[in-house]
Amino acid sequence: MAELRSVIQAQRACRRFDPDAAVLEADIEHMLQLAVHAPSAENTQPWSFVVVRAEETRKQLTDWWTETWNAGGGDRVKQSIQDKTLVADLEYGLSKGGLAVAPVVVVVCADTDRVAEIHAPSSIYPAVQNLLLSAADLSYGSCLTTGLTTFGVDHVRELLQLPQNLIPMAAVYIGRPARKLSPPRRRPATEVTYREKFGAAW
Ligand SMILES: Cc1cc2nc3c(=O)[nH]c(=O)nc-3n(C[C@H](O)[C@H](O)[C@H](O)COP(=O)(O)O)c2cc1C
Repeated sequence: MAELRSVIQAQRACRRFDPDAAVLEADIEHMLQLAVHAPSAENTQPWSFVVVRAEETRKQLTDWWTETWNAGGGDRVKQSIQDKTLVADLEYGLSKGGLAVAPVVVVVCADTDRVAEIHAPSSIYPAVQNLLLSAADLSYGSCLTTGLTTFGVDHVRELLQLPQNLIPMAAVYIGRPARKLSPPRRRPATEVTYREKFGAAW
């Protein structure tokens, strides 16, 4: 296992997966065990995970992306995102089948019997982040997506037979990366941090 720092620094959104490389069941269990160690408001632990491997279900989940992209979502992305590399990567993942070949999709749901809906995202995303980091630690690629679970909630509910108290909040695609990802591009911490009061440079 790699050092935490190097795992965090290497973790990136992967949208090109090796279709022939397996995701081991033991590895998924390991990732989920680390996901549930996340903090949550009042320790409500309001998460449920649905691990999808079935090709037909994955196809139905990813077809939604392609339809949405082709119905104008792609144009909106192209207009609003300046970073051409990211746009090309999103297009590959969402409309050209990149995410579709990921062998596993983990749908992370918030349980509104355990947490008020307004607090659901802040208590769910730490667990999602643990999932992403533990996937990276095992050299898997992963991609966190929220579009499907935000705008296609009814579709996801029906497909996965979710009860009303579960809100699907994230779909995380997991597989072996088809190629090595370049380092993440991030603004340096010093550029976004201030001393004592906003405006005083770090
Ligand atoms: C809340 C959230 C939603 C995201 N939604 C999507 C998505 O719908 N589709 C996608 O391909 N990537 C999605 N991403 C991944 C981001 O595009 C990615 O983290 C960002 O561009 C930085 O790229 P990198 O992680 O590869 O460095 C999402 C990330 C976050 C945190």
